[in-house]
Amino acid sequence: MSEETIEYHWGKHHRTYVDNLNRQIDGTDLDGNSLEDTMVILYNKGDILPAFNNAAQAWNHDFFWESMKPGGGGRPSGELLKLIERDFGSLKKFLDEFKTAASAQFGSGWAWLAYKESRLDVGNVLNPLQSGEDKKLVVVKTPNAVNPLVWNYYYPLLTIDVWEHAYFIDFQNQRRDYISVFMDKLVSWDAVSSRLEQAKALIEEREREAERKSRDEEKPTSSEATPEIFSDSDADLDAE
Ligand SMILES: [Fe+2]
Repeated sequence: MSEETIEYHWGKHHRTYVDNLNRQIDGTDLDGNSLEDTMVILYNKGDILPAFNNAAQAWNHDFFWESMKPGGGGRPSGELLKLIERDFGSLKKFLDEFKTAASAQFGSGWAWLAYKESRLDVGNVLNPLQSGEDKKLVVVKTPNAVNPLVWNYYYPLLTIDVWEHAYFIDFQNQRRDYISVFMDKLVSWDAVSSRLEQAKALIEEREREAERKSRDEEKPTSSEATPEIFSDSDADLDAE
């Protein structure tokens, strides 16, 4: 990735999303939320509010820059590699699927590796995957600024920007060459592994919290614990 691409992509495109978002939410209720919360609120379950594109593009670009490092590429390791092999069959099959998703995204957008927790409570009809794919690594592609976080229960682990502005200076219209260079020489598997660890920790915390909540709900309160006496039970029997 050339210096010129970085100057345009990070210095101009990314900068513009951030500046526009700041202008749009300045002085509104959204000001002061995290960027992630702002993005999810603005997605509004698919009924997108005006500042969504800038919020999501700001988030996506931060995540994209942090998905790469100088001298990246190579092979993932540890738990990440184990899950890739479990869920895609092999590292090669994952790479093929990811590269295909990135090249097949029609027009502008993003390709993602995400950890999909579950389909529970997803109040969003655009969620593209079935419940059989829960607790697995998945590859998804999204148009324009959309990010899998807005679908609930998806944890992005890796992304590649496939907007034309990401590759046109270096590769003209050869999107596939850009994708190959990104995966072979730039991707930071360390970043992906640490995101997987964070996602799993968050999910465990959420499951523990849900368990604690359901235990509390089952526990009878002191008034419920007192047996109720129905003095009219005989009368009910007589009536049958
Ligand atoms: Fe971009």
